[in-house]
Amino acid sequence: METAAGTDRALTGKVLAAYSKIENPRLKSIVSTLIEHLHACVKEMKVTDVEWEFAWDFMERMAAMTGPQRNEFLLFADVIGVSQLIETLNHEKPGQPVGFALVGPFFRADAPVRERGDSIASDDTAGARVRISGKVFDFDNKAPIKGAFLDTWQAATNGFYENQDENQPDYNLRGRFRTDENGTFEFVALMPTAYPVPTDGPVGELLRAAKRPPDRPAHIHFIVSAPGYETLVTQVFVKGDPIIEDDAVFTASRNMVGDFRKEGDNFLLAYDFPLKPGVSIMPKAPVPS
Ligand code: DHB
Ligand code: FE
Repeated sequence: METAAGTDRALTGKVLAAYSKIENPRLKSIVSTLIEHLHACVKEMKVTDVEWEFAWDFMERMAAMTGPQRNEFLLFADVIGVSQLIETLNHEKPGQPVGFALVGPFFRADAPVRERGDSIASDDTAGARVRISGKVFDFDNKAPIKGAFLDTWQAATNGFYENQDENQPDYNLRGRFRTDENGTFEFVALMPTAYPVPTDGPVGELLRAAKRPPDRPAHIHFIVSAPGYETLVTQVFVKGDPIIEDDAVFTASRNMVGDFRKEGDNFLLAYDFPLKPGVSIMPKAPVPS
């Protein structure tokens, strides 16, 4: 007589066989591995009908909050550490002085290309300023990289990125800068401040259930790219910020900390970006331009 365990093993085998004719080998391997792990998960937990109803309703509610300005699925991947795991697996090498961070949901392509020394903050943007300067160089031979692009973006002191806030000018707190012949750059930004990830959707419900604070440590985002080099996606956090150890999206780490120096009411930061030789690819921007 067939046991229940035998029946569900047979079912998993039958499902895998049904997807065995996918031609693209990578797609085939992704689909079959997903099926195997999802079946194993369902069996291990003995998922009930009611729990499955909760799961698809949760996904429906994530979909309802998702659109061009907001992707609840991406936020979900971030708060369960999947996004950072992918960054680490693909890019992190021992001894790397500057770590790879997740892109996050607020990167917007085609930010204005600004002049050296310019501010990414409009004059009426509240908050202390920081003058950030540094160098982009080759990780292997330490040679400066001329004409590298620094794409940078950050939230206002109210916690909102420009696309979430109708009171900010278009592309406020976003900009692109190019390095000069010595590989150096310089610009003015807001001194970063801490703020929570959006908690008004299903992800907020999960964070509350886990009693996890939604806060991200204060940070400014960078994507540093140049032809012939692996694109560096990173964030710079503020040295001494206690939230670094408890980042809601598990990105902040010791190799992404900047020493912001106070200078009067404002700040100075010197920060360099080493690039590893490789393929230059820009990540997809979650926010449309
Ligand atoms: C997330 C990332 C950010 O950089 C941010 O500012 C807010 C949220 C995220 O990964 O969800
Ligand atoms: Fe951010």
